[in-house]
Amino acid sequence: MKSILAIYPGSFDPVTNGHLDLIERGAKIFDRLIVAVLQNLEKEPLFAVPERLEMLREVTRKWPNVEIDVFNGLLMDYARQRKAQVILRGIRAISDYEYELQMALMNRKLEPNIETVFMMPAETYSYLSSRLVREIARLGGSVRDLVPSIVEERLRTKVH
Ligand SMILES: Nc1ncnc2c1ncn2[C@@H]1O[C@H](COP(=O)(O)OP(=O)(O)OP(=O)(O)O)[C@@H](O)[C@H]1O
Ligand SMILES: [Mg+2]
Repeated sequence: MKSILAIYPGSFDPVTNGHLDLIERGAKIFDRLIVAVLQNLEKEPLFAVPERLEMLREVTRKWPNVEIDVFNGLLMDYARQRKAQVILRGIRAISDYEYELQMALMNRKLEPNIETVFMMPAETYSYLSSRLVREIARLGGSVRDLVPSIVEERLRTKVH
């Protein structure tokens, strides 16, 4: 029987309820889902990779077919190495579409056997991004309902 392994890549700095919405949907559809944290970003992160992995592991523990991992370099090289058939990405609004389309087509050029699958989160999360969460936390606003409570706690200690 065919078993589908999907990779959900991102920076997850930090994981939000929008990411979790997508992880839950992905874990339902695919046999296994790897949430893969991209290590080599140019942007200055708020949370170090080990902290991001720890938070992700904690909040995805309830889904036995979800694994947390980290990768460097080209996503398609990592996907081939893990023998994944699918890349999962989220589309929040039209503004995500252009960049995601470009990435999906370029990734298909690099590896035609791997499909990118897009999912939409619940509408309540369609305006939610890690960048906004970082900004709100830095400015002392409340991120309740936007991130899991362990992330909220870590944000509070991080920005103080
Ligand atoms: N609220 C959300 N709902 C659905 N998908 C999301 C949401 N936030 C992020 N995603 C998707 O998760 C994947 C990883 O995104 P990423 O790690 O860049 O998160 P982000 O919230 O966009 O962070 P940043 O603001 O730092 O770019 C992307 O496919 C992105 O579209
Ligand atoms: Mg993003």
